[in-house]
Amino acid sequence: MTPHNEAKPDDYADTVLLPGDPLRAKWIAETFLKDVKLVNSVRNCLGFTGTWKGKKVSVQATGMGQPSAAIYIHELLDTYKVKNLIRVGTCGGLNKKVKVRDLVIAISAATDSTMNNRFAPFTYAPFADYELLSTAVEMAKTRGFTSHVASVVSSDIFYVPDGVKSYGLLPEHNVVAVEMEAAALYTLAARFNAKALTICTMTDCLVTGEEIDSGQRQSSLSEMVELALDTGNQF
Ligand code: HPA
Repeated sequence: MTPHNEAKPDDYADTVLLPGDPLRAKWIAETFLKDVKLVNSVRNCLGFTGTWKGKKVSVQATGMGQPSAAIYIHELLDTYKVKNLIRVGTCGGLNKKVKVRDLVIAISAATDSTMNNRFAPFTYAPFADYELLSTAVEMAKTRGFTSHVASVVSSDIFYVPDGVKSYGLLPEHNVVAVEMEAAALYTLAARFNAKALTICTMTDCLVTGEEIDSGQRQSSLSEMVELALDTGNQF
């Protein structure tokens, strides 16, 4: 047990999907998994374990932003010794190449968080696990999904004052989308020698103002969750 997690030592599977929203964690567990058990409800940051295609898998909400996500991720790695973490979330597009509904499979994550300043005088480059990444990319291709293997920026600020301009030159360096958790996930996974990946559906474009509608949102999220579950089942 930890201050934020009441699960018992073997409650989590080796592979854990990480949505931000606790109700999305519940939806994933109830919609996709069999033999589901609630393993954590401290602060309503829900965690569940069940099976997907016969294999044990968990889903744990992280809350929004890196400080919140880092708490749950650190404890999953340090206390519960989980091995594979796959964030499933949404992101905002930073260039016109990525369209709403497209998947962004984050190979690396820039950040404005101060969390990694302890690496000074170096600038740490948080990166995805290659095996998880290549498995997800191949599966996405087979399923005919439009996906972009590119960098995201994990921002600490949702309501940026200047729209896409707030991200400076990042969009010109193939940083195609903004979300709020991947950099902390990748940094902690590296620290604990675990595998991590972030898969996001692009829901709103900061350049064009285009947004996903609610029907598309549901079907895109379902496709992304199945992709993440199938990817996790390979490990
Ligand atoms: N900013 C940060 N995170 C996001 C966004 C955004 O515009 N859209 C979806 N997740």
